[in-house]
Amino acid sequence: MPDLPHSPAADRNKQPILDVLIRILGERGTALEIASGTGQHAAWFAAAMPRWTWQPTDADARMLPAIASRVAQAALPNLRPPLLLDVMAPRWPSPGHAFARREEEKKFDAIYCANMLHIAPWAACAALMQGAARHLRAGGVLITYGPYFEEEAMPAPSNLAFDEDLRARNPAWGIRRLEDVVAEARRSGLALRERHAMPANNLLLVFGF
Ligand SMILES: C[S@@+](CC[C@H](N)C(=O)[O-])C[C@H]1O[C@@H](n2cnc3c(N)ncnc32)[C@H](O)[C@@H]1O
Repeated sequence: MPDLPHSPAADRNKQPILDVLIRILGERGTALEIASGTGQHAAWFAAAMPRWTWQPTDADARMLPAIASRVAQAALPNLRPPLLLDVMAPRWPSPGHAFARREEEKKFDAIYCANMLHIAPWAACAALMQGAARHLRAGGVLITYGPYFEEEAMPAPSNLAFDEDLRARNPAWGIRRLEDVVAEARRSGLALRERHAMPANNLLLVFGF
């Protein structure tokens, strides 16, 4: 797909992430993806998990045509066209069950957000947690993926360099401390349930009620 924006990192990490998603997610459900970027993750996961309806979104309207093209090329019944969504927005989309009556049916089984927390102001973390708490059904999970600093662990040199680069690009950006993210989740009623070490010094975190 030469014409579409393409992330080499997303190509490298999509299968390791999928391996974990398959282990932790149930048989079927509806997932809201935050910060889909190029849409590579959405297309890969929807193809591998046909019983999961996948809703990609991004805050940057310029990314939506690329995601829409990937969705069209994938031609999967469970992969929805992208929606514009900034985590800071007070209203997020619902799964769109046309006949949903109960509040729980209007919520998602999973919310997935990769590589956003360090490329957004810190306030986006609270917004993500508050939005997830509003839009996850009971038993649902928020999954985040990316680099984090951990209190007890020596930071990887690659993450230190990445953090420095991020802060030089935008002082409001930077790799977040896992403890701060967990504390922010707790303020919204979410607890860290699982921590998966991933390739290239990344973590996949699973939060639930
Ligand atoms: C590095 S890309 C990650 C893309 C993809 N998730 C991945 O891992 O390859 C970061 C994405 O976060 C999005 N983003 C930044 N701030 C956001 C916000 N407040 N709400 C939603 N998305 C946001 C950007 O538009 C960008 O597409």
